[in-house]
Amino acid sequence: MKATAIAPSNIALVKYWGRRNDRLVLPYNGSISVSLNDLFTRTTVEFSSDFKEDIVVINGEVAEGEKFSRVINFVNMIRDIYSIDDHVKIVSENNFPTSAGLASSASGFAALTLACSKALGLNLSDKEISILARRSGSGSASRSIFGGFVEWHRGNRDDGTDSYSEQIVDEKYWRDFRIIVSIVAKSEKKISSARGMKYTVETSPFYKGWIDSIDNDLKRIRSGILDRDIELVGSVAEHNCLKMHSLMLSTVPPLIYWVPGTLQVIHTIHKLRDDDLACYFTIDAGPNVKVICSKNDVKEIEDVLTDKCSIEDIIVTKPGKGARITNSHLF
Ligand code: DP6
Repeated sequence: MKATAIAPSNIALVKYWGRRNDRLVLPYNGSISVSLNDLFTRTTVEFSSDFKEDIVVINGEVAEGEKFSRVINFVNMIRDIYSIDDHVKIVSENNFPTSAGLASSASGFAALTLACSKALGLNLSDKEISILARRSGSGSASRSIFGGFVEWHRGNRDDGTDSYSEQIVDEKYWRDFRIIVSIVAKSEKKISSARGMKYTVETSPFYKGWIDSIDNDLKRIRSGILDRDIELVGSVAEHNCLKMHSLMLSTVPPLIYWVPGTLQVIHTIHKLRDDDLACYFTIDAGPNVKVICSKNDVKEIEDVLTDKCSIEDIIVTKPGKGARITNSHLF
């Protein structure tokens, strides 16, 4: 009844923004991401009738309030589906600094899903695990089940059985692909993605335009990945990110995740591109900028970013493995 899983964080190249069904976490659009080699969560889960209560420890701190209920609501859903009565102990750690302002819920919920399914002996396929992870608070966790480049299919059915993630190519396919995570602010976001996207769907006049343009973005990113074409993948990902932020800005009340450092990096990347360096940016629901580029250009880009922008931290990473079981338990 005890298992430990490791799962990578992921960065979307075509973003998920908006749910057509909140309870089942069904997206309005498909998305494509890359799982990251150097940012991951390790989670140990144990179910036991000896435990008197549920306990959740995240990065050495006992979780309380919203953090605790977000995890336990998901475990309750699993307990309901599989008729489990036992209490649970969960200990989870990120290998990256928690205060780094990087989203950890995708890797966290992917690791939690895999560890729960193993601890309970559920014998689920990867597809079923990604469907279960999708139903956690963080839909993008469904993509973190797989390594390399991953597509989360929107699906059409109302019950969500066709909305799951699938690997496009594994982490070894495109060895030169790099992401430079530039941390410009370490604050936690005020509005969660779930709440932000709900407001966007309800109020942004641009939402239809977003949906209408997604299939083309997905098609171009898929083919760019297969051709290992950094210009195509980078330019489509950057434009897709800017479209998502246009939705955010046009939400009522507006969702403005950028800070001055975010714009510094954006302008610096554009300047580098004017000088013929193939680098592109993408930004999620926060201020930090992820730069997409090739291995050979990392050093030059890193030097310029450090010199020209107020960066607090930089992490260079590449496509990594998907979620997996390990024997090194956290308790
Ligand atoms: C902007 O609800 O899946 O990152 O914010 O980590 O809880 P968390 O995730 P989720 O929203 C992800 C929104 C996004 C775009 C994306 O990853 O596709």
